[in-house]
Amino acid sequence: MTEVTMEQAAAGVLIEAAREAARNAHVPYSKFAVGAALLLTDGTIVPGTNFENASYGLSLCAETVALASANVAGRLRDVVAVGVVGGAVKAGGEMSGEEAVYPCGRCRQVLNEAAQLGGRDIAVYCASGDGRELRTHRLSELLPHAFGPGDLGIG
Ligand code: THU
Repeated sequence: MTEVTMEQAAAGVLIEAAREAARNAHVPYSKFAVGAALLLTDGTIVPGTNFENASYGLSLCAETVALASANVAGRLRDVVAVGVVGGAVKAGGEMSGEEAVYPCGRCRQVLNEAAQLGGRDIAVYCASGDGRELRTHRLSELLPHAFGPGDLGIG
């Protein structure tokens, strides 16, 4: 039997929390639900889901919603990892999709704000809607040479 690493266990917990959050996705336009879950330094999990708008361009991504929620709690500096899952919503409300969903460019930049403030390279776990694919990365791989608060002398 192969032992599950701590990182795989953390990823599993975050993806499950993200999947739960995605049940409340407000996606009448794209019908593509995304859930995100942040892991904070003390083990707190902060969920987010996408929130679309009839004025399409105003839609908010799951990761950005979760980060805004962490900020409300004063915890932006404490983000250790994020789990993301997404896919087209099926008739029963389940997500489909064989490909892992990655944070969009804007969300990577918003994640970088938390990463630089906290002095941590955030772990990013990306899962497919069907739950069969899980990819593990660090934010620095997904957003190399990032511009952030440090460039403005803030940290
Ligand atoms: N979406 C997210 O929530 N996060 C991402 O990183 C990528 C895209 C949402 C935005 C929109 O509601 C839907 O997915 C389709 O683009």
